[in-house]
Amino acid sequence: MTSRSFGITVKCFLLTAVFATAVAASAQSSRKASSSKPLQPWMNPALSADERADLVVKEMTLDEKISLLHGTGMKGLSPMSPLAVDSNGGAGYVVGVPRLGIPDIQMSDAAYGVRSSGENGRYSTALPANIAGAASWDPEAAYAYGGLIGRELRAQGYNMSLGGGVNLARELRNGRNFEYMGEDPILAGTMVGQLMKGEQAEHVIGDIKHYALNDQESGRNAVNVHIDKRSMRETDLLAFEIGLRDSRAAAVMCSYNRVNGDYACENQYLLTDVLKKDWHFPGFVLSDWQGAHSTAKASAAGLDHEEPGEIFYGPEMKKAVESGKISQTELNDHVHRILRSMFASGVVDDPPRKGVPDVTTGLAITQKIAEGSIVLLKNDAALLPLDAAKLHSIAVIGAHSDIGMISGGGSAQVDPPGGNALMPPGKGQTHWQDEIWFPTSPLKSIRAKAPSANVQYDSGADPAAAAALAKSADVAIVFAYTWESEGMDLDTLSLPHHQDDLIAQVASANPHTIVVLETGCAVTMPWADKVAGIFEAWYAGSRGAEALANLLFGDVNPSAKLPVTFPKSDADLPHATIVHPPVASTTKGGDPDAWKKIAKGLPPFETTYDEGLKVGYKWYDAEGKQPLFPFGYGISYTTYAYSNLKAVSMETNGGLLVTFQLANIGARPGAEVAEVYAALPASAGEPPKRLIGWSKVKLAAGESKEVTVQIDPLYLSVFDVTKDAWQTVPGDYTLSVGPSSRDLPLHATVQMK
Ligand code: BGC
Repeated sequence: MTSRSFGITVKCFLLTAVFATAVAASAQSSRKASSSKPLQPWMNPALSADERADLVVKEMTLDEKISLLHGTGMKGLSPMSPLAVDSNGGAGYVVGVPRLGIPDIQMSDAAYGVRSSGENGRYSTALPANIAGAASWDPEAAYAYGGLIGRELRAQGYNMSLGGGVNLARELRNGRNFEYMGEDPILAGTMVGQLMKGEQAEHVIGDIKHYALNDQESGRNAVNVHIDKRSMRETDLLAFEIGLRDSRAAAVMCSYNRVNGDYACENQYLLTDVLKKDWHFPGFVLSDWQGAHSTAKASAAGLDHEEPGEIFYGPEMKKAVESGKISQTELNDHVHRILRSMFASGVVDDPPRKGVPDVTTGLAITQKIAEGSIVLLKNDAALLPLDAAKLHSIAVIGAHSDIGMISGGGSAQVDPPGGNALMPPGKGQTHWQDEIWFPTSPLKSIRAKAPSANVQYDSGADPAAAAALAKSADVAIVFAYTWESEGMDLDTLSLPHHQDDLIAQVASANPHTIVVLETGCAVTMPWADKVAGIFEAWYAGSRGAEALANLLFGDVNPSAKLPVTFPKSDADLPHATIVHPPVASTTKGGDPDAWKKIAKGLPPFETTYDEGLKVGYKWYDAEGKQPLFPFGYGISYTTYAYSNLKAVSMETNGGLLVTFQLANIGARPGAEVAEVYAALPASAGEPPKRLIGWSKVKLAAGESKEVTVQIDPLYLSVFDVTKDAWQTVPGDYTLSVGPSSRDLPLHATVQMK
């Protein structure tokens, strides 16, 4: 009796409680509905983002201001602030100001897709790596790339992206090149600009990183990069300048390294003189994770926000403000920048709502982008596209091509549905710096395209066995890969795991050998002359195998071009090796005090980027070195003809209008990336030529079009250090147009005043 009545009482109590809550909620909502309380003035979207931010700043207490200036910790990075309970599980979480209607900032890494979906029980689409996005040379594809990430961020409850990597591939062995957009500042800046524009159009706070010159991972928390101002402005910084101009990205992440003596996150020249003053950047600068090293110095230099904790921008910042060491004006400027970015990006007016990501559309988008970004580098005797009707047997060899395709690691890592494809389904968790394979199987996709051929797989572990299989087949397709990740660099551009030997043995067994590379940047190819076909597939994303099969069998005509030079050997690189840190400038894995040592500042070691302006193809041009495959190179299954180049000055802005005729004289439709380069007058002291524009032009078989490319005057300028400004050097400019940086059939000269 007692227990029964007790049970009933509890139930009644619960029901009453639920009911009472519902009544209270409804009363509250009717109060809201009937209340004539005016909207807080900063909630008026008719005001500018700056006006709205100013109104909020006036209402804020010191503690509220300080809390916007730092994150609240990140899983696995203790003993900094513990991760707050309201975090959405991303890399960064900033507490908002609920009483003023300012939401929390939920940040997620999102280089080629949204990170950490595995540990949070969510789903993310993997796009082709960012370098692949650049290889499409297609600004519309970059916009779609960003849009997909923006939607998936919001569906997962995030309102800020930490994507937008645009460090130049100055050092081809940098382990993060796959996260960046290649070696040319105009290509990289344009592509990241469109990517971030697409992302911000979905109402997330966008970010461009890592500012600046974080061009190697080795000793990244200590390295002091030496580079002269002109080179810096015309190379790495120009990529950021263009990206920010085109996207109006709301945030910039300063990098770990030092630049000419000061840490990037407390570097007055980078953050204030260039970014905030010269480029008029209205958004906020956040530190890379543990990239902040001071309070007053960083604040004065222009760092607005510390991540992931509050070592310098929490209690220390409060003390500095209270003691007058940091002025109210300086504090308010940091706060204003964060708030105006929130208003400008739409996260206040249109906060994200968690939902189910649109997987079907996402997969279609990633496949289309992959199809436009896989570069065909060689096609002897028109072996490609393969004709399924004529093939009896195909040998598929190497790089786990039976089960999947590799992805790039580190904070860019996207988790494959079902886990690492190398592991049993559901068992393959994603771990930091594990090789992660996506379940997009080239073997399956090739079998689907050639259903009546005998398609057999060999792992490539024993090159002799692989060669024997290749010998018995009509065609051999060898897959080879390099795994790359944040936190490491490559020692060499050679393929690892004896894959060069595997390819060489297969190629000598079968003259119809096609190599498919899955690499994050350039590799050397000592076997290039021996194989009939080569594709650079990069890290091809969730639908890489399907995209590749469409290219192999000609359902899609290749249209991508290299965004980096592929040198013949390591010896051709500007530096014999990457400068590695001395032991004192590193922390050991597992050291519980590592974070304190990093925060304090590890002793610097020096690297000098003395190639200066000669980044990428500019180095090979200036040094007279023949690359293996030049920047801008990529072929297709049709042939294009260029003619009739004209260039005129545009009175309106001092730029140029370049026109030429482009014809598809082959039998298949295609899309050609037509590239425009300029050689500046000798007095400019520039490398032999620079990319100044391009157009990706779709052409039906037999079609011819007049192509117009508008050249921005900035792209014809040089940075004059004495005047601290971009200048046009008067004289003759030779323009060249063609399909790659080393194949430029059209020339014209224009005089610039
Ligand atoms: C990386 C950033 C990343 C951050 C947060 C850092 O280690 O350099 O690119 O956004 O971590 O995960």
